[in-house]
Amino acid sequence: MGAIGLFDSGYGGLTIFDRIRRLLPIYDYIYLGDNARAPYGGRSFETVYRFTREAVIHLFAENCSLVIIACNTASSKALRTIQTHDLPGLGSEQRVLGVIRPTVEAIGNMTVTKHIGVLGTEGTVSSGSYEMEIAKMYGGQIQVTMEACPLWVPLVENNETSGKGAAFFVHRHIKHILAADKKIDTLVLGCTHYPLLTRLIEQHLPKGVNVLSQGEHVAERLQDYLYRHPEMEQRLSKGGSRRFLTTESTGRFSEVAGRFLGETVQGEWCEL
Ligand code: DGL
Repeated sequence: MGAIGLFDSGYGGLTIFDRIRRLLPIYDYIYLGDNARAPYGGRSFETVYRFTREAVIHLFAENCSLVIIACNTASSKALRTIQTHDLPGLGSEQRVLGVIRPTVEAIGNMTVTKHIGVLGTEGTVSSGSYEMEIAKMYGGQIQVTMEACPLWVPLVENNETSGKGAAFFVHRHIKHILAADKKIDTLVLGCTHYPLLTRLIEQHLPKGVNVLSQGEHVAERLQDYLYRHPEMEQRLSKGGSRRFLTTESTGRFSEVAGRFLGETVQGEWCEL
């Protein structure tokens, strides 16, 4: 029996964890934030793959049966290789899932104009993973415009989610992507850190443009996955416990994560 592991470069994956724990509270969870090495967004394919693989191995060693890579950059650059290349050797009974596919599945129900924008890190944008997944699922029916927002993750990691500096950078990228395609009616927050900037993002959105946040969709897809895979569901322990691991200072992590989740968080330090 094992927990569900969630992994992100830092605090962003908490936005996914928050929705998962609400929908599926009975399971045990272990959250791992690699805050010491965040952000991942500007790092090379090889580095993101290496860091993500280390995190997955760590969560498997913590006895997780299922790991959700709650990070778009890592899902874009490392998930496929880990699933096809590493998983057979790491643990034949364990599984690793990402966040891009559940997000893309939700897009079709949201856009009316069939023109969408995706905001993400440089790594996610340059990987082409959203365009590929959208083309696979919808053929050529949905027009995608991508926008990299390199400073948004550092703002969140440094707990600078309000104030003039954050507002400036949020406004700049929203204006830019909406000018690139005036028919966009849906903006996907294609980075799990971005919902922590929701208040500012919504302030700068014109009427008629909706925001798609990933958390609820990833949570619903996970519920569906567990329904379709009873062999995995039965391997998950159901004590309702939560553990939080970070590669950085536990004090700061506990404070920021606790504030975001609205509960006391006792971070534990770990080394990858
Ligand atoms: N939360 C990660 C994502 O969804 C942020 C990546 C980063 O560390 O730059 O892409």
